Amino acid sequence: MPAPPPDARSLVATCTAVTECGADAVILRVKPPAPSGPLRAGRFFMLRRQDGLSPAIPRPFSLYRAVGDELEFLIKVIGPGTRALAATLPGEELRLIGPLGNGWPTLEPGGKPVVMLGGGIGSAPFFELIRQSLAGPAPVAAGVLTFFYGGAHTGLLYDLAAFEELGVRVIACTDDGSAGFHGNVLQALAAEWDAGRLPQAVRLLACGPEPMLAATARLAAERELDCLVSLESLMGCGVGICNGCPVTTRPDGPLGSWTNAKCCVEGPVFEASAIEL
Ligand SMILES: Cc1cc2nc3c(=O)[nH]c(=O)nc-3n(C[C@H](O)[C@H](O)[C@H](O)COP(=O)(O)OP(=O)(O)OC[C@H]3O[C@@H](n4cnc5c(N)ncnc54)[C@H](O)[C@@H]3O)c2cc1C
Ligand code: FES
Repeated sequence: MPAPPPDARSLVATCTAVTECGADAVILRVKPPAPSGPLRAGRFFMLRRQDGLSPAIPRPFSLYRAVGDELEFLIKVIGPGTRALAATLPGEELRLIGPLGNGWPTLEPGGKPVVMLGGGIGSAPFFELIRQSLAGPAPVAAGVLTFFYGGAHTGLLYDLAAFEELGVRVIACTDDGSAGFHGNVLQALAAEWDAGRLPQAVRLLACGPEPMLAATARLAAERELDCLVSLESLMGCGVGICNGCPVTTRPDGPLGSWTNAKCCVEGPVFEASAIEL
């Protein structure tokens, strides 16, 4: 069984702010008891309130943004766990377990152009990836990063302005045409390719609803593109113990003959060719 990451800790953090974001989300900011150090983009934390108002099982959330010694999580409110977190008040305490999972690989300068596809709350793991890639010791040129940000309507393009301020090309897309390109992220990508505004040979990174990830994986297979997907599976423990996050693997893929991987310790980022979507 893969072990939890050695840097994962269980700690109590203090909420410092909760800000409404878009139609149904909040940005929850917390201050851990000690600085977390550098955190790889795309890793996640299990979160619950300390006061018993959260369900017993903590819920997984990608690190959205590190602000000094504080951490931010972009949380879409869909059920009891997210409702309880969104109702946290500044000064109240939260249990955090993390950082967990593998996260995105470091993007190298001089590599293939990178196309990031974020569907709705699937945008969360991309903010730090873009920020860190532009600012790291070996920074990636902003011109080779393109972020396609899709949502059903404009209210589901969470914190869009902050993404646009990062300095990379952001292509907003909505299913109802209320903002940006009228259509989904893959249609917008096809339009960019057709217009010659993007090279054909790109690396795809995607996070969002499963149908979007499945369509992205099919596109990558057809065009023989490298493709990573970050999954938002249901989770129990987050550290590899409960078997609550199985991901069906492809026997011919790089994960080999095991029929299941654990999303929490072997993911949440997988090569699309390694898993069944
Ligand atoms: C690695 C990882 C990172 C994540 N990052 C974020 C993030 O940054 N921001 C964010 O808002 N959410 C994120 N999620 C999803 C988040 O964990 C769930 O939305 C949350 O657990 C829901 O808890 P709840 O108690 O509010 O809803 P629940 O009562 O648990 O769920 C409400 C309904 O939604 C369904 N549901 C719950 N979770 C999921 C899911 N993951 N996929 C599909 N359907 C689901 C349930 O079956 C149920 O019908 C992430 C998940 C993973 C695994
Ligand atoms: S959530 Fe428990 S094993 Fe992955």
